[in-house]
Amino acid sequence: MSPDRVAQDAPWLLWLLNAMQSGQEALLQILHSVGLTPDVDGQPAWPWSRRLAGENLLLDVGQARAMAWSLLAVVVIICLLVLAALWWRHSKKRGSLLVTALLIVIATPWPQSQVIWTPASPSSFHHNPLPFSDAAIARGAVHYQRLCMDCHGATGNGQGPIAAQQAVWPPSFTGPLLWRRTDGDLLHTVRQGVFTHSGQQRMPSFASQMTVAQTWELLHFLRAQAAGQLLQLSGNWVMPIALPNMQLHCPGQTWQQVSDLQQQRVRLVGLADVKSVLPDPRMLTVWLPPADQSASFIPAQIDCVVASATEARQALFWLTGTENFTQTQLLADKAGWLRARNDRGADSWSEADLVCRVNEVVQGATQEDSLTRLLRSMDSQPLVYVKGGSVHGLQ
Ligand code: HEC
Repeated sequence: MSPDRVAQDAPWLLWLLNAMQSGQEALLQILHSVGLTPDVDGQPAWPWSRRLAGENLLLDVGQARAMAWSLLAVVVIICLLVLAALWWRHSKKRGSLLVTALLIVIATPWPQSQVIWTPASPSSFHHNPLPFSDAAIARGAVHYQRLCMDCHGATGNGQGPIAAQQAVWPPSFTGPLLWRRTDGDLLHTVRQGVFTHSGQQRMPSFASQMTVAQTWELLHFLRAQAAGQLLQLSGNWVMPIALPNMQLHCPGQTWQQVSDLQQQRVRLVGLADVKSVLPDPRMLTVWLPPADQSASFIPAQIDCVVASATEARQALFWLTGTENFTQTQLLADKAGWLRARNDRGADSWSEADLVCRVNEVVQGATQEDSLTRLLRSMDSQPLVYVKGGSVHGLQ
């Protein structure tokens, strides 16, 4: 089941993934607060070599169902054992409680251990502490070109100039890899390298060539690059991608960056002829002026101008794969996910412009204009973003 279908077809599965994730994170916090596990790369280290594998359950709903029953069974068994301990004097009651617990153990469809456990690293539960911003993406691109491109290729397709000399071919980042790994596991891979079971090095470690913060920037870049490549290859953002944070200048408003525009739809416009953009009260309009044009005159239909224009242009190049942004407009939904792209340099939208969709668009014979239909599709199909087996908010 593709992750974005999960929310519709099996909402309980999202609940299960959340419960598994928060349970493990809570355990980690407790261990860390009593000093049983140290910090690694600035965040508490996961002390075990395995963790629960939410990402596998997404692919196997039968096992996920077994997992949900098992969690319930564990809770009930613990309650029965506690009761049995409290009633240890009443041998009859105690006996029947213990027999019930045993029957539950036998009757529960325990999931297969190779499905629910997956190898973990000390940073498996780390979160990227940096905002997904144009500046982070632009800096990440520099690290990538310096350290990764020779093997992983200029577009991240795994076909760099020295790729063929490696013992195994470097993977492509446009496949499901980045979405199946947790951010923390990716951090670990890049900092520590990749080794075979027998200790042979497959990929070098980069901990001595980048700080932790630079590695997090690099991971933001990888995601932006993969999104842009996917858009070029398939015309779609298969996995949700957020409108990056950018510095803004919004006359008459207190907003200073994209993250201040919460719960509003945002239209990002790169057009040179910004006067052709029709005013629309249903969304905020943010203008990225072309490189050779200054935003000295701001027409009334523009709410904000991008202040970090150089970084924004670079980040958008990676995100969309489009070199020249002067024909492009992007639409972000109220949660901040990029949902639609229009490359025609005009203000006419169609539902085919949706590039991150949950369902196929049903063409209705309504009187509404196409932008209204597009906004309605966006709002009625909120995105759920599952990465590395856990449900993420915007990042
Ligand atoms: C010398 C060549 C080389 C360089 C340089 C290199 N990689 Fe790799 N990388 C590989 C190879 C080969 C693999 C596949 C290893 C395997 O699957 O055993 C790999 C695998 C990966 C993976 C996937 C690991 C997984 O979880 O399966 C990631 C992510 C990755 N590289 C990121 C990077 C980043 C980021 C950089 C730059 C900092 C980088 N690599 C630099 C060769 C390289």
